[in-house]
Amino acid sequence: MCGIVGYIGYRNVVDVIFRGLTNLEYRGYDSAGIALRDEGKIKIFKSLGKLGNLKEELINHKSNLVNPIAGIGHIRWATHGSPSLVNAHPHTCTCGKLTVVHNGIIENYKVLREELIKKGCEFRSQTDTETIAHLVANEYSNTKDLELAIRNAVQKLQGAYAICVMHKDVPDVIIGARKHAPMLVGVGENENFIASDTPAIIEYTKKAIYLDDNEIAIVTKDSIKITDINGNTINKKVEILPWEPVALSKLGYKHFMLKEIHEQPDIIRNILNGKIYDIDSPVVLNEVKIDIETLKKLNKIQIIACGTSLHAAMIGKYLIEDFAGIAVDVEPSSEYIYRKTTTDASTLVIGVSQSGETADTITAIKQAKEKGSHILIITNRPDSNMARMANSLIPVNAGIEVSVAATKSYTAQLISFYLLALHLAEIKGAMDKNVIKNIKHELIQLPIKIEEILSNTSTIQECAKNFSSFKNFIYIARGINLATAFEGALKLKEISYINATGYAAGELKHGPIAMLDETMPVLSILVPGGITYEKILSNSEEAKARNAKLIALTSSSDPNIDKLFDVVIRIPHVSEILSPAICCVPLQLLAYYIAEFLGKDVDQPRNLAKSVTVE
Ligand code: G6P
Repeated sequence: MCGIVGYIGYRNVVDVIFRGLTNLEYRGYDSAGIALRDEGKIKIFKSLGKLGNLKEELINHKSNLVNPIAGIGHIRWATHGSPSLVNAHPHTCTCGKLTVVHNGIIENYKVLREELIKKGCEFRSQTDTETIAHLVANEYSNTKDLELAIRNAVQKLQGAYAICVMHKDVPDVIIGARKHAPMLVGVGENENFIASDTPAIIEYTKKAIYLDDNEIAIVTKDSIKITDINGNTINKKVEILPWEPVALSKLGYKHFMLKEIHEQPDIIRNILNGKIYDIDSPVVLNEVKIDIETLKKLNKIQIIACGTSLHAAMIGKYLIEDFAGIAVDVEPSSEYIYRKTTTDASTLVIGVSQSGETADTITAIKQAKEKGSHILIITNRPDSNMARMANSLIPVNAGIEVSVAATKSYTAQLISFYLLALHLAEIKGAMDKNVIKNIKHELIQLPIKIEEILSNTSTIQECAKNFSSFKNFIYIARGINLATAFEGALKLKEISYINATGYAAGELKHGPIAMLDETMPVLSILVPGGITYEKILSNSEEAKARNAKLIALTSSSDPNIDKLFDVVIRIPHVSEILSPAICCVPLQLLAYYIAEFLGKDVDQPRNLAKSVTVE
């Protein structure tokens, strides 16, 4: 949620940290700050709101800067203490010599704060982070060894942290440490980086060392030392980052979200390539590291996820149950962790996450791991914490997703679920071979059909314009597309702030129907030939009878549909079982164009963060 960039090297320090923070901007934040080592001093600049404000702050005080040689920067998403200048990072100790930026939450900060106040520390902010600055400074005054001081201090912290520290009296070094929050060290020549996420550094280096929990990185411009919490040096692997800087460019699109929606056909092609060679051969899913005999006996799966990934998980449940006949539970990670679950060593637990860093899902996965379950992670970030916890890892390969609202990573998760469900069905011999062939054939056709939708969005744009003044929306569907309705409504909520709710169409009459009138449009997802088609049509008629304006998302060419619905968004036909992978696209576009028409900040909607690393 927050972002950290630390730099030491020969380049313009301010520029590098700004570029890095800009590339983390999509994660969401409310204030920003930077600490620079310049002329032997630590100089700090902070601002509220967007990074541009921090830039202005620096320009206004340009004359105060001579030649910074190192720095640490931060974008903050407030957890403890409101967004304000005083609460923005970096924070300092009482004398101002030590400065720290932090991601995560220190759970025992109140106790530590009291102890430190008794020792004479002067606190200025309401943040948990300031405690770290005083704590490390206190240890430093005892040890006169910054590395040791940090090791001692972090052992007293409970909760999650990724920190980056500089001290006025310890020149030429920046130090990072982490526990339950991501951090990596970018490896350069005559320069090195510390960052909370890859996009911060990919413009400068493709080499990185990922820190694990309880590790500390002591970084100078020409050396990197990683130690454990006891000071033992650890030899870490230098990894090559899987991203290209071009992923951070809009490539002519007005917003990243639109670009990412348009990337979906190629992403599907890439995922299928190498997994389905031809429709007669079994799906190749070597990523599932469970032996065949165990897979054959598998009869219980739990899927845990949050937000958009949860909707992909709901569709995954439907697919696995339908194709492979294995019972699947789906639960939001934040609920799973508080429940006495029946997870055991014979349960396959699947964690789904675009970012691989969502704290709720990480906690849930840890719990499942403790129960001995095999953990399969489906994520867009093979370099993430969650990926590292996996026994089996299915990377969805959607490329970096910059827009906060997930689109391409969702579709990629769905395609991964189709492959997984087919794989399980083939291993268990649970499905008719011809049906499997048809599904594979349809999967291969999906990109072309999505391209067809993307090549003509005029109806969707027109609909967006005509419906953008409504304050409420209902999306209805049944069966496998219930989660599509949830996801479509979530997209609209996230980026346009319009109240949109997905309902099982059959549930409309059990309550929500009371809300229907001419101010409440209803969007129905109708797949002709599907088992739910006629029923949803009837539910739509019921809504029409209450004067609701109706939008249909369908491939039906039935002229009666045009009579019943005020707007018909027509899509190419696919079978009901494949339809979630295509229906999501016009719903993403509808949300996009409504938000764009309303002039909202599409890529960085208020209050949201791309990756939520607190529970
Ligand atoms: C945040 C994002 C959502 C996302 C959810 C789960 O709330 O704003 O778009 O769906 O986290 O994230 P994950 O990375 O685990 O899929």
